Amino acid sequence: MTTVALAFKTRNDLPAETREAMVALLNRQLANLVDLHSQTKHAHWNVKGEQFIALHKLYDELAEALEHYIDDVAERAVALGGYALGTLRMAAAGTEIAEFPEDVVNGLAVTDALAARYAEAARAMRAAIEVATHANDLDTADLLTEISRGLDKWLWFLEAHLQ
Ligand SMILES: [Fe+2]
Repeated sequence: MTTVALAFKTRNDLPAETREAMVALLNRQLANLVDLHSQTKHAHWNVKGEQFIALHKLYDELAEALEHYIDDVAERAVALGGYALGTLRMAAAGTEIAEFPEDVVNGLAVTDALAARYAEAARAMRAAIEVATHANDLDTADLLTEISRGLDKWLWFLEAHLQ
């Protein structure tokens, strides 16, 4: 994964080494979220079955929430004097989320595949909260905590179809 050193000066009083570490941390989460967003839209378009309309709409609600998380994470990286690795190809190079399985279109199978990937993103987000907390960047930790709480909620929405 590309790591870009702090690109811009800022009056932000966090130490430069903290900001640099946080920019890298945020860009890793950004890659995961951009990947998860595209997989969620992929599911929204391709899902089939009895629950089609409910799942089609649910996945779009999730994708919309992810768009907000993506924007907030990218903007935090830039606010810290960094450079947001925001393109699809940058995300593809940095993501930790497994690719969506090919030819999975059945509603429950799609939901199961998404649940596994939301759980992976939530795990990575929780680990990032801990890193940000130990680095004493409580604002980044707070932002990631808000997103983590959201991912946990969406995981519940997905898993409720499977239980
Ligand atoms: Fe749509």
